[in-house]
Amino acid sequence: VIEIRTLDEHLVDSLCLLLDELKSTGADSYFHPHPMTREAVENIVSTVIEDQYFVVLKENQALGYGMLRGWDEGYDVPSLGIAVCEEARGTGLAEALMYFLHCVARIKGATRIRLTVYDENERARRLFERLGYEFGSRQDHSAGSTRLVGFKEL
Ligand SMILES: CC(C)(COP(=O)(O)OP(=O)(O)OC[C@H]1O[C@@H](n2cnc3c(N)ncnc32)[C@H](O)[C@@H]1OP(=O)(O)O)[C@@H](O)C(=O)NCCC(=O)NCCS
Repeated sequence: VIEIRTLDEHLVDSLCLLLDELKSTGADSYFHPHPMTREAVENIVSTVIEDQYFVVLKENQALGYGMLRGWDEGYDVPSLGIAVCEEARGTGLAEALMYFLHCVARIKGATRIRLTVYDENERARRLFERLGYEFGSRQDHSAGSTRLVGFKEL
């Protein structure tokens, strides 16, 4: 069974294994929406209100993780984050999850989505550009990396 599920306490173990994979492969240098720890995940589960966190689950294995957040901080334009496990890259799962997140944002009344991506994260940048994100402003960080801020009109 493969399904998209809202993150809850039953999915914490599976999601933490995916976060561990992202850390061990270095993908966490591109994807770190929150500390990549169980504590941070448990904190989300216990405090989330309007923000949306999803896990793509194959049996007990988390293949993907996607989120729309910002509503709980009072923003109208949600910020999107996505990661899929190495095994599921190139399958179209990331694109499917992006479309799903776009639907969720529309259903919740958003008219735009925001995201940030590191300049050198070509794989993610190409996916986002293919799906209609436009990148304008750049945020330069002290470590020498550049993050692009992208928006998509829904
Ligand atoms: C970003 C991510 C979700 C994309 O999912 P994916 O399944 O790898 O994406 P796709 O297979 O659709 O490939 C995206 C694009 O990268 C290209 N690509 C594939 N392998 C590549 C590589 N090694 N280097 C550069 N580009 C590559 C694909 O051809 C495709 O380009 P196209 O749209 O021009 O055809 C996934 O790679 C991931 O989880 N990465 C780690 C976490 C991350 O970086 N998240 C985004 C943070 S903003």
